[in-house]
Amino acid sequence: MRIYLDNAATSWPKPEPVYAAVDRYQREIGATAGRGAYRDAVEAQRVVDDARRRCASLFAVSDPSRIVFGSNGTDMLNLALHGLLRESDHVITTVCEHNSVLRPLAELSRTRGVTITHVRCDSHGYVDPQDIKHARTSKTRLIAVTHASNVTGAIQPIREIVSTADGALTLIDAAQSAGHVPLDLNEVPADLVATSGHKGLLGPLGTGLLYIRPGVEKLLKPVRQGGTGVNSTEDHQPDELPQRYEAGNLNAPALAGLGAAAAFLLERPVSANAAHESALVRRLIHGLQSISAVRIYGPPPGEPRASVVSFSVEGYDPQEFAAALDAAAGLQCRAGLHCAPRMHDALGTTKLGGLVRMSVGWSTTAEEIDHALDAIAAIAGA
Ligand SMILES: Cc1ncc(COP(=O)(O)O)c(C=O)c1O
Repeated sequence: MRIYLDNAATSWPKPEPVYAAVDRYQREIGATAGRGAYRDAVEAQRVVDDARRRCASLFAVSDPSRIVFGSNGTDMLNLALHGLLRESDHVITTVCEHNSVLRPLAELSRTRGVTITHVRCDSHGYVDPQDIKHARTSKTRLIAVTHASNVTGAIQPIREIVSTADGALTLIDAAQSAGHVPLDLNEVPADLVATSGHKGLLGPLGTGLLYIRPGVEKLLKPVRQGGTGVNSTEDHQPDELPQRYEAGNLNAPALAGLGAAAAFLLERPVSANAAHESALVRRLIHGLQSISAVRIYGPPPGEPRASVVSFSVEGYDPQEFAAALDAAAGLQCRAGLHCAPRMHDALGTTKLGGLVRMSVGWSTTAEEIDHALDAIAAIAGA
């Protein structure tokens, strides 16, 4: 038996059309996208264009060229941060961030003298937009905030946070919200939104995307240079989007899968997926509350959260507990610090070795949650 509750790392299984699209690309199309003019090269381009158009629709973006593809969420966050920040800029971020934001910022602080304020969160993992406002200085160039924490699942008041920007640029890390929580970029006018394609967006590993608001490309330098299939006589990257940021061949087979996944999510749609996952998260939390050795972290029960539930088990190291669940019940989840060290410091869970995290997905069932709860209770002692 396998109960996969690690969808926050990457979603599994993928919807059937995702496998079919990757397979078709690999077996029948095979060509690179955006290069040749022969039939299969044109088909390759069409598949990638479809993926881009559907991903744009998921975020209510009318111009698909504003969506740039890359290899994962980390790649896209690196493009946003390294491409944007200059000598001595000030950045406001939060203690809730993943290392894919924290580490590029730390590197930019070493190499470009970028200064960073890590705004606190409350005991449930929520950031107060007022704290972001108060952290502003005359040098604040960017506010970089995760939409949903991969540890607590807390969904930040992203619209309010973006509206405090007052001239600063805004970057949302949507790695844990995309596909789980609807995000309409007409309502939330962020400048940049980075996400993985392989988590809630249900595409294959090796996919990520960055949304770039019109005008921001003038401020965002490409961090890689190379062939784009256009303007080949020039020795600099073209200005056109998305080619400006997509030097080298794309992972087109995986993007074919991402396109199929986006079509699935547009049809399902994300709001229905959110309702399905919320019901499972409520069931999991309800069951965990009756196990006395378990302490749940994150938003209070009943409050919205991304599809993530983290908890400690008295008397257990999180890694040991996760290994015991795997051995006893084939229950696969993630334990430790989840690449979010400041989040665990804020929760006071670093000294515990982090937490055990379970994350549900589109295909998780109520029965799987009940099996998981039985296994947790059996090991933790109910
Ligand atoms: C909040 C958050 N941001 C960024 C990332 C990085 O995404 P990727 O694994 O696609 O590089 C993750 C991955 O776990 C994440 O949870």
